Amino acid sequence: MIRHIIAAIATLLALWAMAFMYDLDQKAERYKKIQELIEKTKMEVKVEQTTPSVQEPIQAPEDLEAERKKEEDEVAKKLKSLRERAGSAMAFKVSPLYKQKCSSCHGVNGEGTVGPKLIGKSPEEVHQALVDFKSGKRQNYVMYGLLSKMDDAQLKELADEIGSFQQKLEAAAQ
Ligand code: HEC
Repeated sequence: MIRHIIAAIATLLALWAMAFMYDLDQKAERYKKIQELIEKTKMEVKVEQTTPSVQEPIQAPEDLEAERKKEEDEVAKKLKSLRERAGSAMAFKVSPLYKQKCSSCHGVNGEGTVGPKLIGKSPEEVHQALVDFKSGKRQNYVMYGLLSKMDDAQLKELADEIGSFQQKLEAAAQ
């Protein structure tokens, strides 16, 4: 009798383990699909490596990582407190063009969601990125599709605006 009970329990456990593994597999599959979707919008362009002639002092990667993290936390904190104070989702005003075309992926204040964070970048950096996306030098279907219908004046306008996000944030936080 006792042997039957033990056998029954063992069978139940085995069944439960199988169901559990199946569920894990499904989850892993879903994650893989999402990962693939994200990867698809990204197309790395090989940039020729040039060896710098002057050896710059190299910061330890952990330091850089920690610094970046700290800066990010600070931006996030400022945005959050400003939004709470203003009772609005926007910490500072942005142009209708940015709001309409860019904010869905880069956040209402450039803090980044699906697309990378833009706040803190200089106008030149942003402009270069936009020009490169548009020309196809930097390949990304999403950004290319968006920018292909814009003229350079608009790219410049957007770059100047986004390049001033950090200042706007600082000003709003005063
Ligand atoms: C549908 C989502 C989406 C929209 C909308 C979008 N972007 Fe992007 N953007 C991305 C993604 C994804 C990347 C990363 C591409 C890469 O690095 O290959 C990116 C990259 C960028 C970069 C380069 C950032 C970096 O760190 O190098 C800039 C600048 C940029 N976008 C500006 C804009 C502007 C300006 C608009 C509005 C006209 C806009 N984006 C609209 C998804 C979007």
